[in-house]
Amino acid sequence: MTTRTLLPAILQAVMKGQPVALGDRHYPRWHLAPVTGLMNDPNGFIHFQGRYHLFYQWNALGCQHQHKCWGHWSSTDLTHWRHEPLALMPDEEYDRSGCYSGSAVDDAGKLTLCYTGNVKFDDGTRTAWQCLAVQNADGGFDKLGPVMPLPGGYTGHVRDPKVWRHAEHWYMVLGAQDLELQGKVLLLRSENLWNWENLGEIAGSTLGGLGDAGYMWECPDLFMLDGKAILLCCPQGVAREEKRFLNTYPSAYLCGELDYEQPEYRHGPLVELDAGFEFYAPQTTLAEDGRRLLIGWMGVPDGEEMLQPTVAQGWIHQMTCPRELTLRDGLLCQQPARELAALRGDEQRVEGVASALAPIAAQSLELMMEAQGDVTLDFAGTLRLEWTRDGLCLSRRSLKSGEWLYRYWQGEAKRLHILCDSSSVEIFINDGEGVMSSRYFPAASAMLAFDGGAQLRLRYWSLRPCMVE
Ligand code: FRU
Repeated sequence: MTTRTLLPAILQAVMKGQPVALGDRHYPRWHLAPVTGLMNDPNGFIHFQGRYHLFYQWNALGCQHQHKCWGHWSSTDLTHWRHEPLALMPDEEYDRSGCYSGSAVDDAGKLTLCYTGNVKFDDGTRTAWQCLAVQNADGGFDKLGPVMPLPGGYTGHVRDPKVWRHAEHWYMVLGAQDLELQGKVLLLRSENLWNWENLGEIAGSTLGGLGDAGYMWECPDLFMLDGKAILLCCPQGVAREEKRFLNTYPSAYLCGELDYEQPEYRHGPLVELDAGFEFYAPQTTLAEDGRRLLIGWMGVPDGEEMLQPTVAQGWIHQMTCPRELTLRDGLLCQQPARELAALRGDEQRVEGVASALAPIAAQSLELMMEAQGDVTLDFAGTLRLEWTRDGLCLSRRSLKSGEWLYRYWQGEAKRLHILCDSSSVEIFINDGEGVMSSRYFPAASAMLAFDGGAQLRLRYWSLRPCMVE
């Protein structure tokens, strides 16, 4: 579609769809979600000239994975956001099948987007261009066009550039699939964002001791944390294990040392980033005070996503809360961004045996809990969390077959920090050593009930709604 046909259709979709989505009881009260249609990956997360900018993959026209635009929000404090002009639409030959994921950089004071122009052909093949766009005086973006075709030796699955500045150069990691259909991450270098030199593969399937680790690695993000180089990645096709990598597509990370010159990335094992049912394609940025912040998509493509009940209300998916990353003994830990404390109402404290405690309203809730003994948390009869000495087991029914599905976090869980919204929970374990993020769709206003013989200590707050202005 061209701007001439797509823009009126988007405007109409928003006018018709927004009241329906915002009136849906499953619509988040304090997480970011699309005002209509489908939202997937966070894109272009950056702190630029005093504001956070968060872009997102967005199909305003429906709940299918089509017509991908870049929506755009900005915020000074990570809790109050405002809508910005639509940033990118797939209206050029080189991005006609979608303005796919990418990142944002500050190029000498200009907010500049690096994204993938995706082009699908009738015979089922595709190609991809890495493209630039720069912000204009109206807050929109002017496309500068493609700066890189497909690199030799890879299929049409090359996408999701994450660009950063290091030692007088721009660097990019790019997700790719090689001609043997193995997923890879490429490292590239540029002086000016326009001419890119492919330095080679730094991680992927059959590299770095990983063995067979999937057919396509999407959405890489590479950054330094506490002296280590962390690579976030979404290795599609990694083998499912009994209790790990159970989602249709996983989100994972590597921790190690990066030698930019060789280039060579020495890293440890692939670790799952979030053990819940819905988490994918996260992106990070640096806060002004040096914290590394992450926002993920609380969705996973291709599984049961289209059976979620919000589709009937014309919208689907939400982001995770913003999280702070730290490294503890080589383990990447995630905690809710401290800014979220501004949403808290009055603090409540309760202690007692789990089965004797009254249920608490879970529609917009922050809960910190410690337990001695086994306890089950029941979210509106729809999602259950069993907390035992062996770890955590989260369960819910398949939207397709009704059978019970399970996700696990293995280890000794000493403390939980749980954030709930109308249709989501994020469970932070032991100050962020593990996280389980999941959507769930309660039939009525969600109550959280406790069961079991454990002695519990709870602190909790109801969270104020924060709508996007
Ligand atoms: C991940 C992803 C990216 C792609 C985008 C398209 O969810 O498939 O690889 O750029 O979504 O919307």
